[in-house]
Amino acid sequence: MTIVSTKLQACTCLLVLAVAISFSGTVVDAKRHSKFKKLEFYLHEQFVDEPGYPVTDVLVASATGNTSTYAFGNLGISEQIIREGVSNTSTIIGRAPGTYQPNKENRTFALYKLLTLQTQEWNGTLVVFCDWLSDADSNEWTVVGGTGTFRMVRGYAINTIAAGTSASNFLTLKWEVFLYR
Ligand SMILES: *[C@@H]1O[C@H](CO)[C@@H](O)[C@H](O)[C@H]1NC(C)=O
Ligand SMILES: *[C@@H]1O[C@H](CO)[C@@H](O)[C@H](O)[C@H]1NC(C)=O
Ligand SMILES: *[C@@H]1O[C@H](CO)[C@@H](O)[C@H](O)[C@H]1NC(C)=O
Ligand SMILES: *[C@@H]1O[C@H](CO)[C@@H](O)[C@H](O)[C@H]1NC(C)=O
Repeated sequence: MTIVSTKLQACTCLLVLAVAISFSGTVVDAKRHSKFKKLEFYLHEQFVDEPGYPVTDVLVASATGNTSTYAFGNLGISEQIIREGVSNTSTIIGRAPGTYQPNKENRTFALYKLLTLQTQEWNGTLVVFCDWLSDADSNEWTVVGGTGTFRMVRGYAINTIAAGTSASNFLTLKWEVFLYR
């Protein structure tokens, strides 16, 4: 008798659960997407070689012969250093290989990067793209996906200038990355 009623209870529970799931599919989806993980780190870009700090950006091709950073038809390769903090002696936690191409429009670039991170929590790569406005204090990137502990994530990232200018030897950018899975 006791056994029967326990089974019955279990069945009722399952039924209620099944009904709940079938009616709340969209609610579950919305909840899943409202949860995100935030990462913060700093990209250190070096324009002029200094001891211990090699240049991070190199122009590799120029279709027109105009080597200006902003000339359309140029293609560059970059590999910036990712550090925990804004200081240029802060712990290195990764690197950011990628490309840069000036667009036709004034002082904007199509940028692609592979943010390669190795920390206690994160070990893998994040693919990010941006239509970068070089004169802006802040730019937004799309996070397309990743590998390792970043598998199946997507989201966006905001970068802001933390130190230096495009005219100084270096530029340090704070990155805030919002990841959804
Ligand atoms: C080279 O490109 C820059 C940026 O687009 C432009 O301002 C400059 O006038 C160009 N120089 C020549 C010689 O065309
Ligand atoms: C390191 O940071 C200090 C303080 O901002 C700055 O004065 C110095 O030029 C930087 N060195 C390099 C190689 O970027
Ligand atoms: C580029 O900049 C010049 C000078 O500021 C301006 O006259 C021109 O309209 C700009 N072109 C575009 C496509 O933004
Ligand atoms: C990070 O990922 C790589 C590649 O999957 C692996 O070889 C390495 O052991 C990982 N490192 C840590 C600290 O988990």
